[in-house]
Amino acid sequence: MYLRDIMIEDLKKIEIEARAEITLLTEAAHFEEAKIKYLGRKGLLAAVSAQMSQVPSDKKREAGQELNRVKNAIESLFSDKQKTLGTFSAHAYKKIDASMPGTFYSPGTLHPLTQVIDEVIGIFRHLGFDLVEGPEAETEYYNFEALNIPLNHPARDSFDTFYLDSGRLLRSQTSPVQVRVMEKTKPPLKIIAPGKVYRPDATDATHSFMFHQIEGLMVDEGVSFAHLKGVLFAFAQEFFGKGTKLRFRPHFFPFTEPSAEIDIWSEARNSWLEVLGAGMVHPQVLKSVKIDSEKYTGFAFGMGVERLAMLKYGVEDIRHFFENDLRFLRQF
Ligand code: PHE
Repeated sequence: MYLRDIMIEDLKKIEIEARAEITLLTEAAHFEEAKIKYLGRKGLLAAVSAQMSQVPSDKKREAGQELNRVKNAIESLFSDKQKTLGTFSAHAYKKIDASMPGTFYSPGTLHPLTQVIDEVIGIFRHLGFDLVEGPEAETEYYNFEALNIPLNHPARDSFDTFYLDSGRLLRSQTSPVQVRVMEKTKPPLKIIAPGKVYRPDATDATHSFMFHQIEGLMVDEGVSFAHLKGVLFAFAQEFFGKGTKLRFRPHFFPFTEPSAEIDIWSEARNSWLEVLGAGMVHPQVLKSVKIDSEKYTGFAFGMGVERLAMLKYGVEDIRHFFENDLRFLRQF
């Protein structure tokens, strides 16, 4: 083998070795050491270069070119490395200790209100109810008019809400979903519709300008108040436990007749707590969706999700649900 070939072989090996070594460099302390090893006055490239004088003159050019190419390549590897090492040390980079225990990220949990909504949905699905959703930015027609609450009726006050520039409003109840469903689906139908509702209430321990409701609706031939009672009773036994007591109080809603508010007995508070409104779907509402009220009857209810959660878990203040304090949330 000619010396020129040996030189070129050596240069290739040096280049490969340098590339590997420089790539693996993680500490500035070893950087200078490596640089001297390859590019120093007595370094590997200098040693190859010293053999140059012995290469026959017609091959000098080729060998010299290769030497320069490798030298330039290694120099630029070092200068690139210097830049990244600089950022490493700026971030107080430490060599990775693979034997150290890893960082533990605790998995999150579903928000307690989400858990309650899921549980309620599960119970009603077992009773054969379908899940539907409606828009939060609702029209005046669905939130009021179609629910038998005309503009001049005083019942508007109790369902007052926030009005958007678009002419829409933030729904103040999930009842508009009843109308949307009945417009599209003819009886028999059984649905529940969970979601956010809004009211211009001042915030305190039991009020929030935004809260959640779950609407229920069943329409068929021969549906009676007894069915409403049966369904709500079954729900309460499942959700709060066997033996849970319910109380139906006569009430007024423009979209149901007769109407009731339903309380659940709380052992912890030693008192009744109102958790839902309900009643038989008003013939006027059926008329607005062109369902024959002589043939079909139905019941509807709307429950307050925060109220259910407060009662079930003994939460004293509704604001806890919205403050995102992990000490509170982690308990669920
Ligand atoms: N929408 C009523 C409310 O928000 C509750 C309700 C729903 C009452 C369905 C009767 C029937 O207070």
